[in-house]
Amino acid sequence: MAHIHELGTPAALIDTQRMQRNIERMQKRMHSLGVGFRPHVKTTKCLPVARAQLAAGAQGITVSTLKEAEQFFAAGMDDILYAVGMVAGKLDQALALRQRGCDLKIITDNAAAAQEIGRFGQRHGMVFEVWIEIDTDSHRSGIQPEEEALLEVARTLQDTGMRVGGVIAHAGSSYDHDSHAALLAIAQQERDGAVRAAQRLREAGFACPVVSIGSTPTALTAQQLQGVTEVRAGVYVFFDLVMHNIGVCSTDDIALSVLTTVIGHQQEKGWAIVDAGWMAMSRDRGTQKQKHDFGFGQACTEDGTVLPGYILSGANQEHGILSRIGEPDHGIAQRLPVGTRLRILPNHACATGAQHPQYQAVLPDGSTEAWPRFYGW
Ligand SMILES: Cc1ncc(COP(=O)(O)O)c(C=O)c1O
Repeated sequence: MAHIHELGTPAALIDTQRMQRNIERMQKRMHSLGVGFRPHVKTTKCLPVARAQLAAGAQGITVSTLKEAEQFFAAGMDDILYAVGMVAGKLDQALALRQRGCDLKIITDNAAAAQEIGRFGQRHGMVFEVWIEIDTDSHRSGIQPEEEALLEVARTLQDTGMRVGGVIAHAGSSYDHDSHAALLAIAQQERDGAVRAAQRLREAGFACPVVSIGSTPTALTAQQLQGVTEVRAGVYVFFDLVMHNIGVCSTDDIALSVLTTVIGHQQEKGWAIVDAGWMAMSRDRGTQKQKHDFGFGQACTEDGTVLPGYILSGANQEHGILSRIGEPDHGIAQRLPVGTRLRILPNHACATGAQHPQYQAVLPDGSTEAWPRFYGW
C-alpha cells in the first residue's frame, strides 16, 4: 500500500473516485433508458474494475478476446459475450469454456463462419448461442439490417441446431464526431438498425430475444432505446482525451493517467524531458485528427490538476518531450524542475492501459493498491 508519492515511475494510475463516478453515471443512464448494461471489459482487462461495474448493476460482460473470457470466467463471471467474429480456429477454446459451464455467447456476420460454428457444434454435441452482428454505420463488420444475408446466416445457424440469440451492433463511427446533434443521429441509427434487424429475424420465425448495441459516445447520447434490450460500452469507465474531444466527458472525468518524473530539460527549446515515452503512453495519436491535438497526452500535476497548454508533444520509447503548445516556455526548468512528478492523461485509455502489467489504484487518501491486468489471446 505505497502512497502515490512513493510509487516508481512511469506507472498507470487509476483515480478510483473518478472511475466510480463514471461507472455510476453510465449505470444510472442505462437504468433511466430502461435497458440492461453489459460493460466491455477490454478497456481495463482488470478484475477489480469489472467487479465494480457488476456491483453497480451491470448484467454480464463483453470481451474482445477468449483469454478475457477465460480469466473473467475463472473469477466467477459467467454471462459473457465474445464480441469479435468467431472463426473455426477459436472454436475449441469457446467449446472448452462452454463445457466448463460458461454461458458464452459468440457472434458472426457471415454464412461461412455460421456453417463452421454449426458443423463444429454438431460434431461436439454443443448448441452455441450465436448473435448476428449488424452494421448500422458502415464502420467495420456486420450485416446491414435489410440485407438478405441476415436471414441466410440465421437459417444456417438454425439448420445446424445452433441458437440465434440476438443481434449486436456497435456504432464505431461515433468516434468521428464531436457535436451532440451528430452523435444523436448516430445513436438513433444504431438503435434503429439493430431493432430493424431483430424485427426481420422475428418475422422470419427466429425468436431473437436480445438486441445489443453500444459505444461510449452513443450510450451517453441516446435519447430513447425502445426495442433495445442491452447496451455495451467500454472506455467510459476511464474516459480519455479522445472522449473529451468528442464531447462526452471533461478532463476532470478521466480516471486513467500515467505518473511520470521530469528527468531533464532542453531549456532553449522549452522542453522538459520525462520518463514516460510511448512505451508508457502507447503510440496512439487518436486526438491528432480531432479539434484539439493533445500530442501523446495532457500534462497534469501529481495530484491531477491539469496544466493548461502543456502536453506530451513527442515520445521516444522511454523519453517523453513535454512542452507548451504555441509559445515555447523558456522557464520550464524553473517551473518543472528535475524530479517533478506529473500525471499525463492519455489519448486512448484502452491502448495506454495495455502498455502496463498492472494499474496502481489511487484511493481517496492517496494510498495505492496494485490491480493486475492481463494480456494475450
Ligand atoms: C463490439 C463492441 N462493442 C462495444 C464496444 C465499446 O465501445 P466503447 O469503448 O466506445 O465504449 C466496442 C469497442 O470497440 C466494440 O468493439
